[in-house]
Amino acid sequence: MADLLVRLYDLPEYDYGRTTSQGVTIRRALPLERGLVCDWVEAHFSRIWRSETEVGFSHQPVGVWLAIEGERLLGFACGDVTARGFFGPTGVGEAARGRGIGEALLFKTLEDLRAKGFAYAVIGDPGPVEFYKKKLDAMEIPHSKPGIYKGMLR
Ligand SMILES: CC(C)(COP(=O)(O)OP(=O)(O)OC[C@H]1O[C@@H](n2cnc3c(N)ncnc32)[C@H](O)[C@@H]1OP(=O)(O)O)[C@@H](O)C(=O)NCCC(=O)NCCS
Repeated sequence: MADLLVRLYDLPEYDYGRTTSQGVTIRRALPLERGLVCDWVEAHFSRIWRSETEVGFSHQPVGVWLAIEGERLLGFACGDVTARGFFGPTGVGEAARGRGIGEALLFKTLEDLRAKGFAYAVIGDPGPVEFYKKKLDAMEIPHSKPGIYKGMLR
């Protein structure tokens, strides 16, 4: 898929009530959680996403956001990791999907990119485009496929 462009200055106000009322916390990851989180990302998703998530732990403030219930990690999202101003990768564990967690992680990460001074965010090579377009007026960037991923080793 083509990359998506999001206008951060037009980001809708997001109500985190749906996740907080379920006892799900969305917060920035701590550096000392790097190993645990990266292992989880690789186990649930891929080695490629692990590599990107590690970059999120390689600068301050950490660019990795977590969804946590009790002491259980349910999902993650990265910002400013794949390239400057990019959103992703992101993922929610299969058993926790459909509870609004992916969306809360998306908004928290985009709000953080906006606070860092970005006017726009790019969602690189999005899988579920409809998920992103549901609440965001995201537009496809012409000629962005394969974009930065051209020639990537697999
Ligand atoms: C995409 C993903 C992060 C969504 O997480 P989630 O917690 O299940 O999503 P939410 O519950 O917050 O969904 C919010 C809304 O988007 C919709 N939605 C969720 N996933 C969708 C999808 N794949 N396609 C279209 N709409 C989707 C939901 O129906 C929901 O709508 P509602 O508010 O009317 O109920 C999750 O399915 C996932 O981890 N997928 C595998 C990894 C992946 O594809 N990551 C993105 C890579 S770019």
